[in-house]
Amino acid sequence: MARVSATTTSDIEKAAGVLRAGGLVALPTETVYGLGANAEDPAAVARIFQVKGRPPSHPLIVHIGGAEHLDDWVEAVPATARLLAERFWPGPLTLVLRRGRRVPLEATGGLETVAVRVPDHPVALALLSAFGGGVAAPSANRFGSISPTTAEHVRAELGEAVDFVLDGGPCGVGVESTIVDATGEIPSVLRPGGVTREDLEAVLGCPIAVPSTSRVRVPGQHPSHYAPRARVVLVEPEKVVVEAELAQELGQRVGVFLPPSFAGASVKAHAVVAIPASMPAYARGLYGFLRELDQRGCDVIVASLPVEEGLGLAIANRLRRAAGPRPSS
Ligand code: TXA
Ligand code: MG
Repeated sequence: MARVSATTTSDIEKAAGVLRAGGLVALPTETVYGLGANAEDPAAVARIFQVKGRPPSHPLIVHIGGAEHLDDWVEAVPATARLLAERFWPGPLTLVLRRGRRVPLEATGGLETVAVRVPDHPVALALLSAFGGGVAAPSANRFGSISPTTAEHVRAELGEAVDFVLDGGPCGVGVESTIVDATGEIPSVLRPGGVTREDLEAVLGCPIAVPSTSRVRVPGQHPSHYAPRARVVLVEPEKVVVEAELAQELGQRVGVFLPPSFAGASVKAHAVVAIPASMPAYARGLYGFLRELDQRGCDVIVASLPVEEGLGLAIANRLRRAAGPRPSS
């Protein structure tokens, strides 16, 4: 499907009207596209879960138009949370804080905390400003599958189930926001994302805990999240080519995430994606690469983990989850 031309003011007005009427709007953010509803409308929020096929116990993120609105949505803002909001918003950082009264339990999966962020995308900010309230939005994909980074991905996956899709072009960051539990004075990272651990530590002036991927216990983060249809196999970077060629010889249709160290190498495989050496470019492309290899009919994707620093931490987290056990297996 051809890209719709740049979002206009009337698109924003229309989308705000859809939200006011209890409908669902897919909106671009700097991380991934979100599936949004009026955060204060329990019936609209319930439709998000229905459309995604997501269990109602998995909490959503409430998107707001600016850090100055934070106090309207949460019970209390510890000094550290205030500092992080001021420093990183708008941006790919989500703060988990104690739930304010206006946030319905439907949006928090029954939790007494709420996740809040200010997205750094002109279309999302224009929508939030026109709408005036908070927009509860998970990533606009079906439960457990790959997050969308273009409006086409959203249309292909959710189609008519969404009342309106705002097209803001491809997402610039490409992986979801970093989620920080800021309920206490010592914050901890619940999900690595677009704001790096190094960025957080520079602002906080102390080391920050990031849980090992395999043991993350955030509701709504089971191991097989972000999974393509193809099985994902992770190997050491120097073994990617040999593993891929072996599996291809054994009759599988193999997709390869070719590490930068093999750039230009010819590989006997069904489909090859050259992984960018730059971490921001890799993060921006990651979900598109997984979708592409699915579309090309790969049975298996052979990849390796990047060095786990900077954005590499979030990329490695998503790849591990993509390679994790599936609910059906
Ligand atoms: O970048 C992003 O964060 C994107 C864009 C659309 O903003 N959104 C996103 O939403 O990734 P979603 O629903 O796919 O992931 C949100 C995660 C959930 O998996 C859940 O684990 C966590 O946020 N979360 C939400 N509320 C929480 C809470 N009160 N306590 C702990 N974790 C929470
Ligand atoms: Mg998601």
